[in-house]
Amino acid sequence: MSEDVKSTFVTLNSGAKIPQVGLGVWQSGGKTKSAVAAALAAGYRHVDTAAVYGNEPQVGAAIAESDVPREQLFVTSKLWNKDHGYDAALRAFDATLARLKLEYLDLFLIHWPVPGLRLESWRALEKLYAEKRARSIGVSNFLAPHLRELQGAAQVLPAANQIELSPFLQRRETVALCQQLGIALEAYSPLTRGQRLGHTSIAAIAQRTGKSPAQVMLRWGLQRGFVILPKSVTPARIEENAALFDFTLTEADIQALDSLEEGLVTGWDPATQD
Ligand SMILES: NC(=O)c1ccc[n+]([C@@H]2O[C@H](COP(=O)([O-])OP(=O)(O)OC[C@H]3O[C@@H](n4cnc5c(N)ncnc54)[C@H](OP(=O)(O)O)[C@@H]3O)[C@@H](O)[C@H]2O)c1
Repeated sequence: MSEDVKSTFVTLNSGAKIPQVGLGVWQSGGKTKSAVAAALAAGYRHVDTAAVYGNEPQVGAAIAESDVPREQLFVTSKLWNKDHGYDAALRAFDATLARLKLEYLDLFLIHWPVPGLRLESWRALEKLYAEKRARSIGVSNFLAPHLRELQGAAQVLPAANQIELSPFLQRRETVALCQQLGIALEAYSPLTRGQRLGHTSIAAIAQRTGKSPAQVMLRWGLQRGFVILPKSVTPARIEENAALFDFTLTEADIQALDSLEEGLVTGWDPATQD
């Protein structure tokens, strides 16, 4: 079978396979349910939500109404900052599952490296992993210093680290450390939230390949080996963002895209977090 959005995975250190393209739903608001339904119809099998997005019930409703078997879906959610600590994290996980109306999560992440309690929260995630209620566990917004601290304390290393990644923000030290430790990288805001879709270098490659600027940016992430999480509530864009498997960027394209690094942080910057 040729590659497509349904059949392209990264294998995690848990042994689970994560579909390399997932639908992001941050700020999808009242369109969350229809966006997830459109994504499932377009072949996506991976949805990335979080307690703080406030839309776990809508994600769960779309899943409940779809005819895709649960075992073919990969659902991620995240522990929010106010829920850190061992007992609080366990309670927050239960609440997330209840809102999603699911029996287990495929991936549960610590959303942000909250100082003080993050190692205690990680112990809670390790318990959820041992119980198989979270089939994989990981972190988000952990840069190299946060990861080294966790590495010193963890029984189980994170399966994934979800950080902002695009040609314009490459976090090379953190990426290299994750690759060395066997931690998969998930690229959030892979479209720079639209801020660099009009860049001339992106446009030139888009024109030559006959693909859109968004597809060029996303394909860069795929060829770098990242799991990519584009967000859209627009059905045509949801389809476009999954149509990444009928072209390949050349080594020269990849180098041109790599040269766009400018430290562009479109969201929060975890480099400011001790
Ligand atoms: N862990 C974290 O701390 C964290 C932080 C940020 C994001 N994330 C995750 O990563 C996901 C993606 O990041 P993001 O939402 O920040 O930004 P993004 O995916 O980089 O960009 C989303 C924006 O691009 C637009 N768009 C989508 N596809 C397009 C296309 N083909 N052509 C032109 N414009 C397009 C969307 O518009 P429409 O929706 O109107 O179509 C939306 O305005 C989030 O939804 C979330 O799941 C995680």
